[in-house]
Amino acid sequence: MNTPPLARFPALRLRRPRQTDWSRRLFSETTLAASDFIQAVILKDGENIREPIDAMPGIARLSPDQAVLAAREAYDLGIPALALFPYTDADHRTPDGEEALNPDNLMCRTARAIKDAVPEIGLMADIALDPYTDHGHDGLLRNGVIVNDQTVEILVRQAVVMAEAGYDIVAPSDMMDGRVGAIRTGLDDAGIDTVQIMAYAAKYASAFYGPYREAIGSAGVLRGDKRTYQMNPANADEALREVALDLAEGADAVMVKPGLAYLDIIWRVKNQFRAPTFAFQVSGEYAMIKAAAGHGWLDGERAMMESLLAFKRAGADGVITYFASEAAKLLNTQR
Ligand code: PBG
Repeated sequence: MNTPPLARFPALRLRRPRQTDWSRRLFSETTLAASDFIQAVILKDGENIREPIDAMPGIARLSPDQAVLAAREAYDLGIPALALFPYTDADHRTPDGEEALNPDNLMCRTARAIKDAVPEIGLMADIALDPYTDHGHDGLLRNGVIVNDQTVEILVRQAVVMAEAGYDIVAPSDMMDGRVGAIRTGLDDAGIDTVQIMAYAAKYASAFYGPYREAIGSAGVLRGDKRTYQMNPANADEALREVALDLAEGADAVMVKPGLAYLDIIWRVKNQFRAPTFAFQVSGEYAMIKAAAGHGWLDGERAMMESLLAFKRAGADGVITYFASEAAKLLNTQR
């Protein structure tokens, strides 16, 4: 605070505005709205499939037709966009993840179906190879090493395939060096200058991705860990360098991931760059709240809303979250 309070107790009583609902609402410094959320959705091939994910109570893998229904629901709730992630079983994965480039893959077919039915909703595609590789890594594995520059070449092609299928935002989540600039150039060279890039700029090597890896079928296949490309949770200055680089390379928005354990990073990124900044409330964060609520150990709805509000208070412009629809429903019924 720059200025000291003008009054002191007992003239000043900070409890005074907390006494009534109208006053608490009036004095609220931060607000949440459906328009703050991007709904994370897990896809699975087939029809009429809603396959529950054990570690994510309330979230199911959706076949394209069901994803269309989810898109319609999200749109009606006022949620601006969906982020889609594909499940692939082990038999359909290859060493180099070629399926990522198939213009008829699950991601592309689902995007087309959603854009046919709900053209007004925004769609975001994760750019990385992990749903498609038989080793579960985000990049190409050569002699035990994730190779950077060759991976970037494939990611550029993946981004163009996703954009051509109808995705409005491509979100590189791989943490290879130089990928944002390469993807921007690749999109522009393909005549796609309107598709946005939301960079997973500060993405940490985190235990909180556990349920997601189960959700997309990577848990059993991932060899080793991702610490040679994702960030060390001990580092914060490095996150600012990652963000600076991605913005310089043409990112339209940057993301910090995971969310709740990295609120300081969101705060620093927003204050340093004043750029569109998003938090990803990842699968493990969702699972923790759902698990505790399922045991009756905390009030799930309140914990959900409090965690979402924290991202906004820390400076995030929006949140990618599995809670989007549930939270939007609650917001729309509250006044
Ligand atoms: C990988 C990717 C991950 C997530 C989004 N994209 C996991 C990982 O890096 O292993 C995590 C999402 C979540 O936990 O909800 N490209």
